[in-house]
Amino acid sequence: MNQSSHRQRSEDSQAPACWRRTWFALLLLSMAPLLCTAPLDGVAAAPQDDAFPLVPLPQEAGAPDDNPTTPAKVELGKKLFFDPRLSGTNEMSCATCHLPEKAYADGRASSAGAGGQQLERNTPTCLNVGLYPSLFWDGRAETLEEQALIPIQSDVEMNQDLDELEEELSAIPGYVQEFQDVFGTKPDRHGVAKSLAAFQRTLITKPSPFDKYLRGDKDALSADAIRGMELFQGQAGCIECHHGPLLSDGNYYRLGVSYRDDGRAKVTGKNQDKARFRTPSLRNVAETAPYMHDGSLETLRDVVTFYYRGIPAVGPGGLTPDTSALTGQSFSEIDLLVAFLESLSGEVPVVEPPTLPR
Ligand code: HEC
Ligand code: HEC
Repeated sequence: MNQSSHRQRSEDSQAPACWRRTWFALLLLSMAPLLCTAPLDGVAAAPQDDAFPLVPLPQEAGAPDDNPTTPAKVELGKKLFFDPRLSGTNEMSCATCHLPEKAYADGRASSAGAGGQQLERNTPTCLNVGLYPSLFWDGRAETLEEQALIPIQSDVEMNQDLDELEEELSAIPGYVQEFQDVFGTKPDRHGVAKSLAAFQRTLITKPSPFDKYLRGDKDALSADAIRGMELFQGQAGCIECHHGPLLSDGNYYRLGVSYRDDGRAKVTGKNQDKARFRTPSLRNVAETAPYMHDGSLETLRDVVTFYYRGIPAVGPGGLTPDTSALTGQSFSEIDLLVAFLESLSGEVPVVEPPTLPR
């Protein structure tokens, strides 16, 4: 395992990635007699490639049984996504913070919410969220249906009372008709949540140069991006947390970016989860600066440089980061990793701003 030469994790970190690595290694070892193509020393030489393969992005997001995606529901969800009447003051829509022209993020360290208050966390993209196993930086929502009503009600975001929202939407004939057609009911919170979820499930990005490369088009990536990809999978150890179709393992880690926000501990109540955040997807990451849960790093170069020399050894209260700074590496690698990260952008689906119902 070539990462352990320069990366160590502390005991208290629970080292989930290490644990998984061990698990995968054991699994591979146990399968070795069955694998005619993989002699044991081959497995030992390239454990990450086998354990964490790079995979292309699926081009469709599955929907739960009780909320199948239909064209009419997606249309309704699109209108709701762009409709400021979903907020308490009728001034803020989902698209105020998740801007289509900014890859459904907003280009700021953090957005201003209701009454102009600055939010604590950076606005993540809604692209590809239909493929996420959990939502928010701390993973506190499991489904898009559950997620949708949270910003609407949040007093620092859209600050809307759901009873009032139902009344307001029921006074708009266009919505009454559409809810009737799609759900057979008057406008209600369940329909709002389901339509917003259905719309967001359609926000899947087209294959990126990286996906095309994985599918066999060897000219899709520049030589630098290919070197960057090799570092990502190899010596730089990024793949350990950033793998799977989203380049995220869906787990929570403390990198020591900041200790002001309790992060995952807000959900689990566990001290050991303080300042841990979900590994973000790296899909279209070049379009969603600034970075990290607090938006504190401005460019991809800043992020990669952080991994090379910014990870602190120890944080407040004896909490230690779940990874350590890369050492013994050359700084010219930073450019290669950035070139790789830039190859992860696929075309954003075109969404014409809808005409809002009256
Ligand atoms: C005031 C700005 C703002 C508004 C308005 C807003 N969001 Fe967000 N959104 C955020 C921020 C900030 C986060 C991250 C919060 C966190 O992780 O705790 C987020 C997270 C999300 C996520 C999770 C993404 C991920 O990476 O897990 C989704 C999905 C989402 N918002 C959809 C919506 C929808 C749908 C609406 C409208 C009903 C909406 N947002 C309105 C700022 C906003
Ligand atoms: C131990 C797990 C882990 C490893 C190893 C790791 N990351 Fe991350 N990565 C994370 C987490 C967790 C965050 C979010 C941290 C935060 O906001 O506090 C993150 C954030 C990022 C971001 C910012 C994304 C955004 O939308 O804000 C980029 C880019 C990134 N990582 C690239 C890399 C690269 C390149 C490497 C290898 C040099 C790497 N990561 C290694 C877990 C990891």
